[in-house]
Amino acid sequence: MYTDLLNDAKKQLAGAIVHKKHPFRYFTLTTVGKEGSPHSRTVVLRGVESDPFTIKVYTDTRSAKVQQLIQDPRAALLFYDSSQLLQLSIKAQLLSATDAESTFAALTEPMKKDYSSTLAPGTPIEGPDQVTYNFNQGYFTILTFEVISLEYLKLKRPNHLRIRFSAEENWKGVFLTP
Ligand SMILES: Cc1cc2nc3c(=O)[nH]c(=O)nc-3n(C[C@H](O)[C@H](O)[C@H](O)COP(=O)(O)O)c2cc1C
Repeated sequence: MYTDLLNDAKKQLAGAIVHKKHPFRYFTLTTVGKEGSPHSRTVVLRGVESDPFTIKVYTDTRSAKVQQLIQDPRAALLFYDSSQLLQLSIKAQLLSATDAESTFAALTEPMKKDYSSTLAPGTPIEGPDQVTYNFNQGYFTILTFEVISLEYLKLKRPNHLRIRFSAEENWKGVFLTP
């Protein structure tokens, strides 16, 4: 029964691609910076595949996270659903950072803005209205992460449920003290 929880987690993640209000749509992506310092930020879940278990995120090629992932492919992905008191804590590694011109071309102009600022993300500016865009010169990148392990934690009475699934353990669920 509990091995179904891995499939349940994958199903819920896939649901967040379709349902814009799903709590797993936004998650925290942590990467490793220079000298091992952690960097966390919120991103949108853009793709989930079950086998092999992968997760996709869209970003700007010039953003710090891309440079960090190229130097160190390890990442942590944290999802939380407050209505279910359910946390999915994922360890992953970058599989690929791909420029996808056709995906970028198909985006609406407001969406293209997120990947087309003339100046690189993080460049200091005078004010928020100083940003200019070049829609012909997008910096759109799809990050694909391979999931290495997933920890499923659900707070409930009488017993909380914490179970680890990992590639190393052949995705067999291992109960953990919560
Ligand atoms: C609600 C929300 C959703 C976001 N989604 C994304 C996203 O899907 N991709 C992305 O690169 N940045 C996204 N951001 C911006 C990041 O949190 C971050 O500020 C930006 O990517 C720069 O991060 P970096 O300098 O660490 O690379 C989002 C921010 C918020 C508040």
